[in-house]
Amino acid sequence: MTQSLKPSRCALVLAAAFAAQFAHAADTAEQRAEKLVSQMTTDEKINLVFAHFGSEFNGKQPIAGSLPQSAGYAKGVPRLGIPEQFQTDAGIGVASQPGKKVRERTSLPSGMATTATWNPSLGFQGGAMIGNEARLSGFNTMLAGGVNLVRDARNGRNFEYGGEDPLLAGTMVGEQIRGIQSQKVISTVKHYAFNDQETGRNILNVKVDEQAGRQSDLLAFQIAIERGNPGSVMCSYNRVNGDFSCENAWLLNKVLKQDWGFKGFVMSDWGATHSTIPAAMNGLDQQTGYPFDKSNYFEGALKEAVTDGHVPEARLNDMAKRILWAMADSGVLDNPVKDEASKIDYAAHAKVSQADAEEGIVLLKNQGNILPLAANAKRIVVIGGHADKGVLSGGGSAQVYPVGGMAVPNEGPKQWPGPIVYLPNSPLKALQARSKAKFQFVDGKDAAAAAKAAAGADVVLVFATQWTSEGNDVPNMSLPNNQDALIGAVAQANPKTVVVLETGSAVAMPWLGSVAGVVEAWFPGTNGGEAIARVLTGEIDASGRLPITFPESENQLPRPKLDGVGLKQDQKFGVDYTIEGATVGYKWFESKGLKPNFAFGHGRTPASATRT
Ligand code: BGC
Repeated sequence: MTQSLKPSRCALVLAAAFAAQFAHAADTAEQRAEKLVSQMTTDEKINLVFAHFGSEFNGKQPIAGSLPQSAGYAKGVPRLGIPEQFQTDAGIGVASQPGKKVRERTSLPSGMATTATWNPSLGFQGGAMIGNEARLSGFNTMLAGGVNLVRDARNGRNFEYGGEDPLLAGTMVGEQIRGIQSQKVISTVKHYAFNDQETGRNILNVKVDEQAGRQSDLLAFQIAIERGNPGSVMCSYNRVNGDFSCENAWLLNKVLKQDWGFKGFVMSDWGATHSTIPAAMNGLDQQTGYPFDKSNYFEGALKEAVTDGHVPEARLNDMAKRILWAMADSGVLDNPVKDEASKIDYAAHAKVSQADAEEGIVLLKNQGNILPLAANAKRIVVIGGHADKGVLSGGGSAQVYPVGGMAVPNEGPKQWPGPIVYLPNSPLKALQARSKAKFQFVDGKDAAAAAKAAAGADVVLVFATQWTSEGNDVPNMSLPNNQDALIGAVAQANPKTVVVLETGSAVAMPWLGSVAGVVEAWFPGTNGGEAIARVLTGEIDASGRLPITFPESENQLPRPKLDGVGLKQDQKFGVDYTIEGATVGYKWFESKGLKPNFAFGHGRTPASATRT
């Protein structure tokens, strides 16, 4: 039988794809975006600039096409090869909206922990790892890159961010963004800007001098954008100097697009769009997360505004072009996503997360070189923090659900931002695997029982936790659930007590003078138990350094009382950042001559530890 010389259908398709690829090769992302826009109808442009929440909302089914329990979805334009946008949270890994069938994925340590490594290459590697999981999960957009400056230790979302210093935060978060986008996935940088507290985030108005703003929060964004080149910037819920961030001409048109030359698109946070014409004219390029907003401003209303000339067609073209530029520049346009989750290498990814956690753990206090644990210790008592089961993670939209299920079921709020999720990697078990000592675990609910168990032990390790989440600030800097009293009682029974903190941010330490050691392990991610055990036993050096100041108490902060606390839900209020301006964090402490518990950059290295 002779083979036909007639090209098969498959070969023709391949040839067409090759020709298209070749034609693109000469074009810049900008030229490709422009060409595509010129071929699009108004309805097709609207497909790109109006995006939905990807999950069930108030009993309503999610929009067709979105991935289950995902954050967002926008339609594509199949006839032009423009893909749908599949959006997933966040900066710590592929998150899931709560529900029956959560996606179980690898969790990085908190952003704060990653920043405490001061190691940009770990930022990049972590970003590449979660970007890879996003792509293999069928997502082409990651709502990552949280870089709001830590102005207040009580902010519930500090764990998602990069600390209080614009250069450090911008560098570390920028590298993470670069890592995510190395997987041909668009990353955001968020929440632009000054969304530095959760209390009243939807209604508060931040007052800030423009110059001080550019030297603080905006500088962190600027550096992250320069370094990471994100395809998108997510504008925040709050107002800034009177205008909502997502229709704030100064923030969006002037600083971001004009002064910094940002070429990508501005997407709204979920429910942060408040209008059609002002938002479109002042710089918003995509309304997403509908129906969190009151109206579908960027759908029919935007089309009508363009038809009537209230929004020039050129502006709609610019919105679409910016989205297409991000797709072309990141590789999303040429590399379609599909669900290939079975290809995720969880074992390798857990190691990436662990490397990050290990370098981010900060040894705050080490009196008498109590750490690393003495090899000849005979009896070690471990107390609290569910250390027998796992490690804590932060809640809200950034919540990554662990492979293998939650270590501690039924903890915390039943509704979002709950539940409280412990990742199944037990520090106790990891310690037992490395030490000949006899271990006793006490849950810590009864301080007297814990103190009794602690008496006479060679070392006592108290695991203290502070769950923080999106949507709420913590009421004060104290550890919750009487843990201060627990630590006090244990330390009194046995001064050879080391406190291991798993917290979102800085906490007060009324017991600091009576314990021998303090270790800040943050939310340490998928292999957090292993990482903590390696540091405690001296298998590796504790090398993390604080990316934030640890105040003695909230009385040392620019706002001893958080603005908005105690107000009725819809009552408007202002947050006055002119108090400290750009003098954020350690700059504030220095300018006021205040002595914190631990300064920015602090971190000890145990005398006997060997570097690996
Ligand atoms: C958060 C964003 C997140 C979005 C989508 C919002 O509540 O502020 O950070 O990306 O939800 O889940």
